[in-house]
Amino acid sequence: MARALIGVIGGSGLYEMQGLGNVQEHNLQTPFGSPSDLIVTGELHGVPVAFLARHGRGHRLIPSEVPYRANIHALRQLGVRYILSLSAVGSLREDVRPLDMLIPDQFIDMTRKRDTTFFGEGAVAHVSMADPVCPAVANCLARAFDSSQAGQPIRLHRGGSYVCIEGPQFSTRAESHWYRSMGAAVIGMTNMPEAKLAREAQIAYATLAMATDYDCWHPREEAVTAEVAIANLQQNAARAQQIASEAIRLLGAEKPRSAAHTALASGLVTPVAAMP
Ligand code: ADE
Repeated sequence: MARALIGVIGGSGLYEMQGLGNVQEHNLQTPFGSPSDLIVTGELHGVPVAFLARHGRGHRLIPSEVPYRANIHALRQLGVRYILSLSAVGSLREDVRPLDMLIPDQFIDMTRKRDTTFFGEGAVAHVSMADPVCPAVANCLARAFDSSQAGQPIRLHRGGSYVCIEGPQFSTRAESHWYRSMGAAVIGMTNMPEAKLAREAQIAYATLAMATDYDCWHPREEAVTAEVAIANLQQNAARAQQIASEAIRLLGAEKPRSAAHTALASGLVTPVAAMP
């Protein structure tokens, strides 16, 4: 089977990874069912990469339907050690303007009906989620952003909490104000439990969050609509591809150590094989 060092999970509007050579498609099966779509492996800058469209190509799955466990399990079967999550978000901060990008360093999980662990049924583990984002992967994304500038007025914000809601509806205004009062920077519908599962699978994870709107808290901006969010995302898609490509080059060259790679060393309670 093909092997990959880096997994790229493309969110809404990002259904392929450009520039991949030696492309193969894999119909992987896992104990948790099939992933969102075929996984595409190939090489970019000589680095083996696996790409997965989170919502399926053509966007067939709402956030609650994404098979998060199968997705992470399948990437791990391919040998993935680092995940780049490319995700559209709403902004909960004035200074994070639509089209800006942000690399979160925290997540708040407000989802309600998702399978959030590989463990259970006799296999017990409690991994640390204190620092859910791998700083080394986040750094590669930030350096990749800097080298992709090309004079465009898009800004990158480092750090901030991503609050993950169940969706598929956007938030009420009261909820949006509440998430702001929690100190969250951006809001999305997919990075939880994805980041938790990546940690259990001992894969280093970081997100490039692309702000598409001000959700519905802003006194002078229209409340978010899917139409506006998608239009803004499409404006940023080419830039996101460039950033992911350069981050892959950096990660492939440096292969940084990550605490995530040994997450189970301190997390396993029952002496079982690492992941069911
Ligand atoms: N994705 C993009 N914009 C969003 C918003 N305002 N809320 C949740 N997910 C989003």
